[in-house]
Amino acid sequence: MLYIATIALALATQPEVEVHPERQAQIDSVAKAGAKWVAKAHPRFASFRPGASMSLLGVKGDWAQDIREHIAKGLVTPFVPQNANMAIPESFDSATFWPQCSKSIGMIRDQSNCGCCWAFGGSEAASDRMCIATNASMLFPLSDQDICFNANYNGCGGGQISTPWTYISSKGVVTGGLYKDSEGQDTGFKGMCSDFSLAPLPPPRPDQE
Ligand SMILES: *[C@@H]1O[C@H](CO)[C@@H](O)[C@H](O)[C@H]1NC(C)=O
Repeated sequence: MLYIATIALALATQPEVEVHPERQAQIDSVAKAGAKWVAKAHPRFASFRPGASMSLLGVKGDWAQDIREHIAKGLVTPFVPQNANMAIPESFDSATFWPQCSKSIGMIRDQSNCGCCWAFGGSEAASDRMCIATNASMLFPLSDQDICFNANYNGCGGGQISTPWTYISSKGVVTGGLYKDSEGQDTGFKGMCSDFSLAPLPPPRPDQE
């Protein structure tokens, strides 16, 4: 679900868009299967057949193997709970748990029509963790632009999920905000070094796939 989490979606007040019949059939099948959640078409993809967002899914290779190799090299430390018997809470929202960082945690970034989810995933998570670790004395976004286009040679063509972390720890990363969000609202982070350069675009039309 990594890809889905990193495809930036702006919900709020979008106009109603006609839903592609194949997409509607998929949505209906979720309800028929008795899911405890409600599926809905996002306006950005609603009018396209399922698969229109494929070009945004840029994680390459076997990411599980990639992580195993990083653990073996000592570059990644697997999480071990301090209290294995602790009850799992009914719900958990990091933006509520660390309200001082909610502005970073709640900042859902738009990767445009670019297969850069591998970069966005890393830069968003690293920005949030940096804020949490410093009790919000370092509350600013790290640059998707820097990671997407400098951490590997493929950029929008895809990358590994470990690449942002290797890049940040070996080379460092500059700050970078966004163009305005998809509602045209200011994201509230001004004066950053390297903002993401690609404007939000509609996905490819089905006949262009
Ligand atoms: C974090 O910052 C807040 C606000 O400045 C402060 O009230 C709180 O004590 C700090 N927490 C820690 C663990 O330093």
